[in-house]
Amino acid sequence: MSYLLDLPKEKERIGKIPEPVRETHIYQREIVAQHYDRSFIRDFPLPVFEETVFRLLDYCAAGQTGALKIFEGGIGTGLFTIPVIDYLFRRDAESCFIGVDNSAPMLQVLHQKSEISTHLKSNPDRISIFNKDLEQPLDLPCADFDAMILAGVFHCLNDPLGCLVQLDPVLKPGGHLVMVFKTDDFTRMQSGVGYTNSNSDSRYGKFWRRYHELRDALNVKIDPKCRLIYDVYHVHTLLRELLEARYEFQKTEQVNWKSHASIPKMIFSIEHGLTFATGQGVEPALLQQLGGEMTKWAVTQEALNKDVLIEHKMEMVVWRKKT
Ligand SMILES: C[S@@+](CC[C@H](N)C(=O)[O-])C[C@H]1O[C@@H](n2cnc3c(N)ncnc32)[C@H](O)[C@@H]1O
Repeated sequence: MSYLLDLPKEKERIGKIPEPVRETHIYQREIVAQHYDRSFIRDFPLPVFEETVFRLLDYCAAGQTGALKIFEGGIGTGLFTIPVIDYLFRRDAESCFIGVDNSAPMLQVLHQKSEISTHLKSNPDRISIFNKDLEQPLDLPCADFDAMILAGVFHCLNDPLGCLVQLDPVLKPGGHLVMVFKTDDFTRMQSGVGYTNSNSDSRYGKFWRRYHELRDALNVKIDPKCRLIYDVYHVHTLLRELLEARYEFQKTEQVNWKSHASIPKMIFSIEHGLTFATGQGVEPALLQQLGGEMTKWAVTQEALNKDVLIEHKMEMVVWRKKT
């Protein structure tokens, strides 16, 4: 990795962070869960998002007259879970949902939502939510599900491809696998992929380069595997290789939106993402320092003055399991 600044000098300027603090995983998923739904990366127009999810489910359910059974891995606070359950309940009186996540705090936030608690009370046998690790055997029956959803989860797994191979038997032949990624430049460069390459400068290139330089200077490394996983083009290549033998690509649905965010807000949100992806984030004092440094830097930049306009793109990719 090449640094674009004088690292020792930069460290001295920013101030020395004591080693033990750097190594403590204080900024954990427990904290992330409290803020998750308020992140600016979730500020899309909800009706457009829900319409897209419904359209996608209609596509997956086309030609199927009986009840549906849907599995979702990494349900989090229920961004997809809620419209999926709504869809199933509107469809008929039998379709059911099973979702897992291995973060108790995320599940706690989900359970506090009335959309979930009401359905759970009225139809407990149609919704099952488990605190389980997707990367461990889930003990689910084979060829049982009509659709399987993994939304924003792939980059969090230690062995994403291994996880897919393990989940594959539970999907019925002809069933649909839906994977959701944020594929805009802003998200893609979050991991630092290409940030040292000025030729690949996008609208956000300068921002990310500076951010990763500071992260490096503060010795907060991002797991190199995570860097690859966040690079959605790399992920698509991996997936194509893995899935093509058993699955047929069907289509992609997109949700695009724009939002404005201040630098500190962006840094906070970025660290949320990295916390999920690496299981480790930056402790709050360091986070504040990163935000402060970036703000100082950004006000001197023409293109990045105060609030930044972010163009988001979420892609929902549908594959069909061969019969
Ligand atoms: C970025 S969030 C996405 C949540 C939700 N699907 C959404 O789209 O908002 C990733 C979720 O995957 C969960 N997760 C990460 N690794 C997991 C694992 N090994 N097993 C189960 N869930 C996992 C996290 O706890 C978190 O809730």
